[in-house]
Amino acid sequence: MNKTTIGFIGTGRIARALIAGLVRESYNDVSGFDKDPAASEAVSHEFGIALKTSVREIAQTADIIILAVKPYQIEEVLGELQGHLGTEHLLISVAAGITSEFIRTHSREDMRVIRVMPNTPAFVGEGMTVISGGKHATVEDIAKAKKIFSAIGRVLVLDESLMDAATAVSGSGPAYMFSIIASMAEGGVRCGLSGEDAVTLSAQTMLGAAKMVLDVKKRPEDLIKDVTTPGGTTEAGLKEMDDHHVRQAMIDTVRAAADRSIELKK
Ligand SMILES: NC(=O)c1ccc[n+]([C@@H]2O[C@H](COP(=O)([O-])OP(=O)(O)OC[C@H]3O[C@@H](n4cnc5c(N)ncnc54)[C@H](OP(=O)(O)O)[C@@H]3O)[C@@H](O)[C@H]2O)c1
Repeated sequence: MNKTTIGFIGTGRIARALIAGLVRESYNDVSGFDKDPAASEAVSHEFGIALKTSVREIAQTADIIILAVKPYQIEEVLGELQGHLGTEHLLISVAAGITSEFIRTHSREDMRVIRVMPNTPAFVGEGMTVISGGKHATVEDIAKAKKIFSAIGRVLVLDESLMDAATAVSGSGPAYMFSIIASMAEGGVRCGLSGEDAVTLSAQTMLGAAKMVLDVKKRPEDLIKDVTTPGGTTEAGLKEMDDHHVRQAMIDTVRAAADRSIELKK
């Protein structure tokens, strides 16, 4: 099937962000079903996507089915899909912690499955989505998923065995970044800035620094050297960060989140 028809099962927060991105990118064959009619009607009204009335109807009309329900609801949805899935379908799941093997076991063993993990900056088009192809997913399937999720930001394809590590960095990462922005702003307030100005300075500085790392393609360590004058203000600030072991704390933060991600699967 060359034409891409995308059907969402679940049109909640993450589906909504993705649908907004797809509409921006001029995908016009998008439909959705949500067991909460208010949720799907709101998305249809805002973005003009077609509304379907059941999981079965999504399977009958879409070749790419995006499972955008909570992880605990996945098994029920797969149960409803059973008997309606064929070799023409590609299943893409955004459910955190649900493996492609689980999806195959509860749908069809030969199912082409792609597991993706977006993060919340997807809501402003700056998401970081990690994509893993399951056992039967083809290169073409991965390319399609990459294109779809590029509508909400940057995409990286990784082996599924690295999902826990990726979850710990980009999945949980926005919260760590919010915490750093808040702490930097608090420092600014203690030095005399208003709260609002301090948050603006701190957040835009994080945005700009991140953009430099991604666009200039230099290692963060080298960018630090570039902006640190011996005896200057940045050096004084960095010394304080070192004295408080901030770098080690961030490394341990990621480790703890990855360990928790592994634990949650058991
Ligand atoms: N939000 C994020 O930032 C984020 C980031 C990464 C990954 N994810 C993943 O994205 C998935 C969705 O998260 P979300 O925050 O978008 O959830 P959400 O806002 O709760 O949306 C899920 C929607 O699916 C509906 N639904 C449940 N069972 C259904 C069924 N059998 N058929 C059709 N619709 C059904 C829900 O209805 P009810 O409310 O009536 O149950 C709800 O409207 C989760 O698995 C999560 O792990 C989310």
